[in-house]
Amino acid sequence: MLEVLKRATGHLQKHGSDSPRLDSEVLLAYTLGVRRLDLYVQFDRLLTEPELARYRDLLARRARREPVAYLVGHKEFMALDFEVSRDVLVPNPDTEVLVQRAVAIAREAGTPIRAADVGTGSGCIAVALAHYAPNVEVWAGDVSEKALEVAGRNVAKHGLAARVHLVCGDLMEPMPGEFDLVCANLPYVGEGAELPPEVTAQPAGALFAAGDGSAVVMRLLEAAAQRLRKEGRVLIEIDPAILEATVSATEKSYAGHKVHRDLGGHARVVEAWS
Ligand SMILES: C[S@@+](CC[C@H](N)C(=O)[O-])C[C@H]1O[C@@H](n2cnc3c(N)ncnc32)[C@H](O)[C@@H]1O
Repeated sequence: MLEVLKRATGHLQKHGSDSPRLDSEVLLAYTLGVRRLDLYVQFDRLLTEPELARYRDLLARRARREPVAYLVGHKEFMALDFEVSRDVLVPNPDTEVLVQRAVAIAREAGTPIRAADVGTGSGCIAVALAHYAPNVEVWAGDVSEKALEVAGRNVAKHGLAARVHLVCGDLMEPMPGEFDLVCANLPYVGEGAELPPEVTAQPAGALFAAGDGSAVVMRLLEAAAQRLRKEGRVLIEIDPAILEATVSATEKSYAGHKVHRDLGGHARVVEAWS
């Protein structure tokens, strides 16, 4: 197995993967139906022909730069496991900054709060927030019915159907009432941006927004300002390229704002309050 892994790693490295060893291990563990850590106690195991054939097929797809999460059908986010398919954005570790801040806000509140997750995709923000903050009830919406089917399975898998309500439609339109907290990771990539194949393999409707990429974020900031309760807060994920536009929009409709950075030090989340 060790030799197979070594060759797989070299192959993926040659084809542009930026984490070839990890990808090789994740795909091998998936092929064998074991956890990645279990590979380490089976390093001298020989693979059967059918196992090798399945592994080669996955490696070939990864070498064509399909995201690993689509190949194995799930992805970890905030230490929780999420089903993913080609209908949803793969949950990204950068988004954990937003969820951690949302959980902190909910815990500080201490009382039951109503939250929105706008553009829920796989449901990762809504599910993680409801999981780590039991005082939160979440309305999670998306324009994509196919994404909502995946989100529905993730909500059920984590036993949160009583506190996470899925709704279909534009931004906050299908969500009833006012909110203490509005979270959103909406499309924010500008037209014509050059992206790696792993990114463009994801749904265009989850990635791109008109012009410089700020169009949907701007609309959400306007809509959320009308739907926030007193002292309510908005947390919105952005690309650093639209930081300036986002901050000036918050200055028009909100009492204050601050910027949170991701692990790479990039401006990633704008928090605004009424
Ligand atoms: C960047 S993905 C984020 C998915 C998920 N929240 C996450 O963090 O992984 C954006 C999502 O917003 C949805 N979306 C795009 N425009 C929308 C709109 N106008 N109203 C509601 N959802 C929208 C897309 O279908 C997609 O699922």
